[in-house]
Amino acid sequence: MNKIIIAIDGFSSCGKSTMAKDLAKEIGYIYIDSGAMYRAVTLFALNINAFNPDNTINTHLLKANLDKLNVTFKLNPETNLPETYLNGINVEKEIRSMEVSKRVSPIATLDFIRDEMVAQQKAMGKNKGIVMDGRDICTTVFPEAELKIFVTASAEVRAKRRYDEMIAKTGNADYQEILKNIEERDYIDQTRKLSPLKQAADAIVLDNSNMTIAEQKKWLLDKYKRAVSSSN
Ligand code: DC
Repeated sequence: MNKIIIAIDGFSSCGKSTMAKDLAKEIGYIYIDSGAMYRAVTLFALNINAFNPDNTINTHLLKANLDKLNVTFKLNPETNLPETYLNGINVEKEIRSMEVSKRVSPIATLDFIRDEMVAQQKAMGKNKGIVMDGRDICTTVFPEAELKIFVTASAEVRAKRRYDEMIAKTGNADYQEILKNIEERDYIDQTRKLSPLKQAADAIVLDNSNMTIAEQKKWLLDKYKRAVSSSN
């Protein structure tokens, strides 16, 4: 069967990684979480002390060290899912820490970082057979992708999902604080100058506010089958 490129963009906390991962596993494609790449760069910037005390970024230092930055993915044989490596070290857990989450947005706005990441992401799609999710995958990385999806859900629904997740994990969460954080991130993602989050004209929109994970999975698999048969 023809291999295609599947590009998935969407708001934060809208479940796009879950559906992208599930689909990749099911159809035997490579899954790449492009957000993990920006997170790994953020961890690298922390490691080389490229954040100033006032939290601005020492871009000279970061730029000067770019040749020492190597972000890769390796498949975990137990979960069959790719994990993120920074200079040969597995950083999958570390890149999800609050420390990194708090600082990743400004890193993702730097032009020299985006240029580098986008070039690497394009190279990963050279042989197709890839599912990649992020914010600019349909618009900048793979505008030629055979299947483009834009995932959305209301901020309230996304906040409630995150709230339930945190309650289950820690027994403690503040719904209003989570909602505020989601709304702020939506604003930054949509209004930044470089590669803002926006729906590609030819992307299929999935509003999953009232869908279960199983329903989403079925929906995406169906779109994949149609895209493959029309690309034959
Ligand atoms: O999806 P995430 O929360 O792991 O993304 C981390 C950050 O990277 C977030 O600030 C958005 C940004 N990002 C981006 O600018 N472009 C992408 N293709 C993916 C993520």
